[in-house]
Amino acid sequence: MAASADARDAALAPILRKTPEPALDCALIPSQRYLAPEFMRLEWERMWRRVWLYAGPLSDLAQIGDYFTFEIGPESVLVVRSAPDQIRAMYNVCQHRGRRIRPAGCGLARAFTCPYHRWRYDLEGRLVSAPDAECDFPQGNPIASGMRLPQVRCETFQGLVFINFDDNAEPLGDYLTRDVMDHLGTYRWGAEFSINLDWTVAWPCNWKIGVDSFNELYHLQGIHPELMDMSDDTPGGCPIDFYGRHSRFIYRVGVPGPRWDDAMARRRGYRDSSQITAGVRAMLKAYGVEPRPEWEGHVKELRPVLLEAARQRAQRGGVDVSGLVDQQLLDDFHYFLFPNITLNISAHHFWLFRHRPHPEDPQRMLWDFQQFVRVCPGQAVPPRPAHQDYVIGDGHEAHFPHIALAQDEAQAGELQRGMRSAGFKGLYLAHQERRLRYFHSVLDEYLARA
Ligand code: FES
Ligand SMILES: [Fe+2]
Repeated sequence: MAASADARDAALAPILRKTPEPALDCALIPSQRYLAPEFMRLEWERMWRRVWLYAGPLSDLAQIGDYFTFEIGPESVLVVRSAPDQIRAMYNVCQHRGRRIRPAGCGLARAFTCPYHRWRYDLEGRLVSAPDAECDFPQGNPIASGMRLPQVRCETFQGLVFINFDDNAEPLGDYLTRDVMDHLGTYRWGAEFSINLDWTVAWPCNWKIGVDSFNELYHLQGIHPELMDMSDDTPGGCPIDFYGRHSRFIYRVGVPGPRWDDAMARRRGYRDSSQITAGVRAMLKAYGVEPRPEWEGHVKELRPVLLEAARQRAQRGGVDVSGLVDQQLLDDFHYFLFPNITLNISAHHFWLFRHRPHPEDPQRMLWDFQQFVRVCPGQAVPPRPAHQDYVIGDGHEAHFPHIALAQDEAQAGELQRGMRSAGFKGLYLAHQERRLRYFHSVLDEYLARA
């Protein structure tokens, strides 16, 4: 039954089509990339300033004057709704003496007034008032000369606002690729999803450790043992695809994979590997299905049951899932958007991880975690949560929506510590970790361009 459903989807759905494998070398990925200040500077000049960067959710800019700042590396960008149909981005730096105009955060503004000497800019960034502007600037009245905050390119996609510092960059759609736009479009985020969690955690590691951490499933058996009884982490069960600079794997959940054998099952307290596991039982319950006695002993055959339950749950909620293939209702469609966005996408919610470099220290980063949930017809939109800043060890770990995220986070400092060791020269990657290698190769392409 599973095989026929999968075969039907493969025939119908472009989202499941296999992409060609990129040609990749197999050299060590040098640890210096995670340590060296010169490497960090090169990344800033040649990569970060040239790519499309997710700045924040469009829903935060509902009315004219709504704004948020986007802090990336040494820069701060003001992103604002300046008119009913206009989102703008501009450098958050006063053109008088260079003071940052607004502190990091969000708000509603009629204008942006620098707190130092009260230069005032309108929502489009034009300087509209400045004390003594007309009489005390021998080089010319800065208002009359049309001074304004330097603009940054800004586009939106599916309820997400992106910016790009490079005036010559390709449009966002070309950057994301037609495939990624089409795939993500099937979920209708822009119209039907709402943010309900918004964290930033300071991680003691380079930003690329954040990216790497979520681009492979090889670590599941090591640090996420509780996932082994309801998902397939093996290379054969996890197709990897590449789209332009970006990549994806599909993480199959709903039944244990081949690694779940009798020995592993017994170590986890089961009679053998055919018993219905706690993970599968929990998924069934989440979809409103009570496990039947005759299913006992057949856990690896329950995927069709889960697929059907997932579709029925969506339909009960009044959600139109006709644009989604079965796997999208059940599995984790896991996209990495170069350079720093990880997406874990399911039919009813998605997680967005943004890996930001620290402004000065290559051995620190800011890990942003936003959760968006689908709001079913007739449901109230959840209130926009306040943004929360955390550091490792402050107790936020207990509030992750899934324990796996705390387990991943706990690796960050340990990995960075290893990067500093004279006993470690670089990453020796497996084929199933080739999304990491691809990411580093795309980064190298940027760094090679003067
Ligand atoms: S630095 Fe902004 S008004 Fe002087
Ligand atoms: Fe993980």
